[in-house]
Amino acid sequence: MADASTDLALLESTATTELKDCADELSLRAWNTKYFGDKGEMNTALKALGTLPKDQRPAYGQAVNAVKQRLISAKDQKEAEIKEQALLASLSANPIDVTLPGRAVSAGNLHVATKVMREIYSIFADMGFQIFRSREVEDDQTNFELLNMPPHHPARDMWDTFHTTTPGVLLRTHTSPGQIHVMKQFAPNPVRAVLPGMCYRHEAVSTRSEIQFEQVEGLVLGPNVTMADLKGTITAFARRLFGQERQVRIRSSYFPFTEPSIEVDIDWPKEDPNADRLTKGTGWLEIMGAGMVHPTVLRNGGYDPDQISGFAFGMGPQRITMLKYAIDDIRQFWKNDLRFLRQF
Ligand code: PHE
Repeated sequence: MADASTDLALLESTATTELKDCADELSLRAWNTKYFGDKGEMNTALKALGTLPKDQRPAYGQAVNAVKQRLISAKDQKEAEIKEQALLASLSANPIDVTLPGRAVSAGNLHVATKVMREIYSIFADMGFQIFRSREVEDDQTNFELLNMPPHHPARDMWDTFHTTTPGVLLRTHTSPGQIHVMKQFAPNPVRAVLPGMCYRHEAVSTRSEIQFEQVEGLVLGPNVTMADLKGTITAFARRLFGQERQVRIRSSYFPFTEPSIEVDIDWPKEDPNADRLTKGTGWLEIMGAGMVHPTVLRNGGYDPDQISGFAFGMGPQRITMLKYAIDDIRQFWKNDLRFLRQF
């Protein structure tokens, strides 16, 4: 027993001294293996238990455990010190200037066309309209025929069309074919929907026209829907978008799929230096075509024109955006010029 406990005391003091000399993680790890590895000194000390007389074993076992606990806590402390020193060393080797301003995360922003579209949706949503998505690649039937334009009808000249190589398949020239899709889905029930989306027309590209542009179509169907409802809806819309003072003017027009057909103008503030140019001196600016849905179109969509009437309108949000933000070239919308896009 005397031998074993002397060895134990020696073991502890050697281990403690060696631990103090450890200067880095590497030497600490070596120390750990030497004393606490499988074949380490502590295990060897524990094995000595077997050589002792039975009555001395419990006391010796407790002594070994006590040494073990002390060495482990000394080691933990040493480890923390070494880590702290390493951190301080690396901080002073690569000093951080905490007074430098941080690097700002550059946030993107929505495309101005998206913003205005969302504004339009929310105004119509407040009036109880749902949004209905419809396809951009259409068949001739839906884009023209079911909208009351048989083949070779001269009204088709209003839309110079991109045809695909598949006969009868084309890029829609307006969102009005969406009316047919809505009607087929909801007939004979009442409907209040806006149909946004891209349209395509062959045009000489200029500051005012592009071969692709968005439209927002509107369609309201129900018993006793009248022109007064159309006028009220459009006036409410225009005032929400452009200001409560706005006046709405209606002129008669022609579309094969509405009867009667109208064009809607809003007055433009005379104070605006661009007013003359925008309104061509008239003070009025066209924002959409509209009208009462033609009975033939109602029938094509599955509605009975004696029971259900309705109105439709179609506007160009890019045009509206140009007015709202004084953008002078429609081609900016699809150019992807960040200097333009970041302004909104
Ligand atoms: N589709 C027509 C156009 O593109 C606009 C319109 C829509 C007119 C709905 C009347 C009713 O010019």
